[in-house]
Amino acid sequence: LVQPISVFKGLEGVYVTESALSLIDSENGVLYYAGYDVKELVERSSFEEVVFLMLHQRLPTSSEFTEFLKLLRRSQELEPIHIETIRKYAGVTDILSLLAMLIVLEGRGKIGGNSNDFNAAVNAVAKMGSFFSTIIRVRYGGDYIPPRRDLSFPENLLYMMNGEVPSREHADVLDDLLILHAEHGIPASTFASLVAASTLSDLYSSIAAGILALKGPLHGGASEASYAQALSIGSVEKVPEWVQLTLSEKKKIMGFGHRVYKIYDPRATIVKNIIARFMGSMNSEVKKVYEITRALEEYGEKYLASRGIYPNVDLWTPILYRMIGLPADSFTALFAVSRTAGWVAHILEYWRENKLIRPLHLYVGERPRKYIPLELRTGS
Ligand code: SDX
Repeated sequence: LVQPISVFKGLEGVYVTESALSLIDSENGVLYYAGYDVKELVERSSFEEVVFLMLHQRLPTSSEFTEFLKLLRRSQELEPIHIETIRKYAGVTDILSLLAMLIVLEGRGKIGGNSNDFNAAVNAVAKMGSFFSTIIRVRYGGDYIPPRRDLSFPENLLYMMNGEVPSREHADVLDDLLILHAEHGIPASTFASLVAASTLSDLYSSIAAGILALKGPLHGGASEASYAQALSIGSVEKVPEWVQLTLSEKKKIMGFGHRVYKIYDPRATIVKNIIARFMGSMNSEVKKVYEITRALEEYGEKYLASRGIYPNVDLWTPILYRMIGLPADSFTALFAVSRTAGWVAHILEYWRENKLIRPLHLYVGERPRKYIPLELRTGS
């Protein structure tokens, strides 16, 4: 008896590798990074420490951490080739595309496969942060500001963007956002980077593959799309009618739904709790988006919760991004900066037992047939 072949469209429910980097407990709505609840990491750790945790699957000792921070902060400095590329293109392309261009530049002449190349992994995370900040600074008329060795990763990210050391609270909010976006198993972008890495393409080119997959509005692009969605709805009163119209047209509400979570995304809960601390300091635009988002959540859940479709991390993060002064077209790029930690960790982990990723397709086309010369082909 020939076994019927099953096609798993979108690899839904398919396990493609083993990994020790994160566990998504979708039943109880808990996300763990190498065994640590991300809620506890947000409260007690830092993005810099989480990068170490991702690369080594354990927390650093204090001497290890000191060495690690020296490498990370040294790697944040940009070279002329980066700065000139940013000056040339920052005004004529979107932030994410330029980010991908720059990380591809970083991989020039390199090949992949070294699962112990922690220096390259740290360099990639560091460079992505500096690329992000410098692109934004140049887009708004400024020029490259070298990172300061005495500032943390989130502090430098805002310092290199704005030219001034950020407030403690802005740096802490950014640190929390970077931790929350660092890793999430094998979403489309991480899978894309693993597909590239599995051919032994270099680490940086594999990150570029991840960036370009993250861009889509079904994935990382949803954060910018959900902010634009709230602005286009325009008022709380319009939410019910907008939701009904959107769903009746079988369109998607940005910031809702998830392939793995069929309950409220635990990261969204953490972001909402952080927002609650800053209610008093919202400007009018952000306050309006906040009110609309609250109404959207309430009304959207009425229609979608019964189908396991709940808000995800991208529904609420735009409000925090805007509150710390990030431009509305930079959210996906910040997501990419943070997720570089997960991408490089998965790539190094996968290279330990590399296997070229090459799935099959079930052929449903024409049966074998003979070639007919043009002159004999009758009909239209
Ligand atoms: C991220 O995977 C990750 O871990 C990703 C991420 C990470 O950290 O890396 O968590 C980050 O990408 C979060 C998701 C951000 N995307 C969005 O907010 C965009 C809107 N969401 C949807 O496009 C959707 O929910 C997906 C893409 C996230 C998940 O889609 P699936 O699992 O492929 O499910 P589907 O599109 O087949 O939907 C199943 C049904 C469909 O209805 P039917 O055709 O069966 O009638 O649910 C409906 C969908 O129409 N549906 C929605 C919906 N999401 C699913 N309907 C309205 N609004 C939505 N948002």
